[in-house]
Amino acid sequence: MSRIAVVPGSFDPVTLGHIDVIERAAGIFDQLHVLVVHNPGKTALLPIAQRVSLIQDSIAEAGIKGDILVTSWSVGLLVDYCTDVGASVLVKGIRSQVDVAYETPMAIVNRDLAGVETVFMLPDPAHTHVSSSLVRQVASLGGDVRPYVPTPVADYLQTPR
Ligand code: PNS
Repeated sequence: MSRIAVVPGSFDPVTLGHIDVIERAAGIFDQLHVLVVHNPGKTALLPIAQRVSLIQDSIAEAGIKGDILVTSWSVGLLVDYCTDVGASVLVKGIRSQVDVAYETPMAIVNRDLAGVETVFMLPDPAHTHVSSSLVRQVASLGGDVRPYVPTPVADYLQTPR
């Protein structure tokens, strides 16, 4: 049986920590859906389509192999997407106990709602301090984000527009 996993997130923008988790998950599951989800609790920097495109470019830059689909979802529950595509697993990157506390209730609710299990994955410790919100702040104040994001993201953020 083909095992499909979904890696959901705001990815605003995708960071090196996200790419690390995507690479590890791609090595475990038969098919991966990297899903850009609008999070109404956050003020967005990048349009959804741009986030999808930057994730695709960043996966290519990292040379990650496997059956990986990058797409977005804006209607209904995350587990509805999982059910629609036959995915039984969500993958979430965990940097600290703060992430565990944030993710645990959502993992239990997603299992209650649709039987979708959540796998917590640890990124390389080199990335545990990296977050999209930190990158947005550094970029908006003119700082160098290259240590934290893939090259396509840094190029995009540092291009004046
Ligand atoms: O990168 P983020 O912002 O931490 O990602 C959070 C996200 C988008 C994965 C989370 O907000 C989410 O799962 N949203 C889907 C809405 C949903 O299904 N909620 C009910 C069950 S938790």
